[in-house]
Amino acid sequence: MVKIEPFEVEQWMDRLETTPGSLNVAETCAASVSVDDLIQLCEDKDAASPLLLSRKLTYGAIRGSEALRQRVASLLDRASDAEPLPADNVVITQGAIAANFLTLYTLVGPGDHVICVYPTYQQLYSVPESLGSEVSLWKLKKENGYVPDVRELKGLVQANTKMIVINNPNNPLGSTIPRAILEDIVAFARPKGIIILSDEVYSPLYHSLPAGVEAPPSILALGYEKTIATGSMSKAFALAGIRTGWIASRDKSIIDAVAAARDYTTISVSQLDDQVASYALSRPVVGPLLKRNTELARANLGLLSAWVDKYAEVCSWVKPTAGTTALLQFRKDGVPVDDASFVLDLLDKTKVLVMPASPCFGLGKDFRGFVRMGYVCETAVLLEALPKLGRYVEETLMAKK
Ligand SMILES: Cc1ncc(COP(=O)(O)O)c(C=O)c1O
Repeated sequence: MVKIEPFEVEQWMDRLETTPGSLNVAETCAASVSVDDLIQLCEDKDAASPLLLSRKLTYGAIRGSEALRQRVASLLDRASDAEPLPADNVVITQGAIAANFLTLYTLVGPGDHVICVYPTYQQLYSVPESLGSEVSLWKLKKENGYVPDVRELKGLVQANTKMIVINNPNNPLGSTIPRAILEDIVAFARPKGIIILSDEVYSPLYHSLPAGVEAPPSILALGYEKTIATGSMSKAFALAGIRTGWIASRDKSIIDAVAAARDYTTISVSQLDDQVASYALSRPVVGPLLKRNTELARANLGLLSAWVDKYAEVCSWVKPTAGTTALLQFRKDGVPVDDASFVLDLLDKTKVLVMPASPCFGLGKDFRGFVRMGYVCETAVLLEALPKLGRYVEETLMAKK
């Protein structure tokens, strides 16, 4: 039997997100849209309908439709100086979760060493471990603004290092790895032939970078063959319900290896999902959809930021620059709270739902007092949740005046 650690954040979400009446500020997707919303957003009023209702529902194209793979490839060519990525270098999966699993399942195993940024989505280090690989965590530090320090790779790398795993933008931190650092990671990996897997599921929601700082490109844009990007429609595109993601690589042999393993789990993805995803990534829709989500993220981050300033006595963070999540640390009398108890009590008393970082993202006590907030929900939800969270914090954490 496979020995794998419980996937804590998924289990906490499953357990709590159906709490009746909850104000969900734990969700990591940009507030979801419907097919009708996509049609409303479409700038070409003569565009074909998103769903061809008369099309027979065969398995369809095994690796994903040509149209969808082409549109994903164009997305990954953003800010790239490299040759355009061919559609054949993309394979469609059921969400980024299947994309990550399949990539790791195909490429790493016993005898391999994997370096993975930390904190991040637990799948990225627990799956390689379950496959028998040795995993070293590349810890992101507050003093570096949670951007990885490439000098540390020298101390982490081993003769058998097969893969470096990064997550850009990062869940749970909402931090960005800028182009220059991506280039340094490539410069480190290339001479050693180390594969770089970049989970880019929150890309391109680079909504709050400091003035003058450019959004980084995909890892595939940097001219190194052994790079893999995973992504999906769930987060930046607000369409988690279609369960559509992808694996893309500059190295066609990686895609073929992944596709050979995928034959055992997938055959093809839902043809309805493929059509909706193709529509959402079509030229007249993708721009307005990303604009909506970027503006929502920026506006909501402004509200959250004002809240954190108001409660600075008991709450601190490194303000996110991208993605949909933020990590906030709560303290009482200067001591970090027990975040799991804090989250459960907060939900019980106020119905506000956030995620505790110690069990969901930390090994040991690394993230004591931290909670993850998913702030790119509907603004109305945030506007209702923040005052409740404020009152709770005043009553439980702040000195009585
Ligand atoms: C970093 C990261 N990767 C992958 C996923 C999986 O996303 P999905 O399967 O919905 O595309 C998530 C979901 O939270 C995530 O945060």
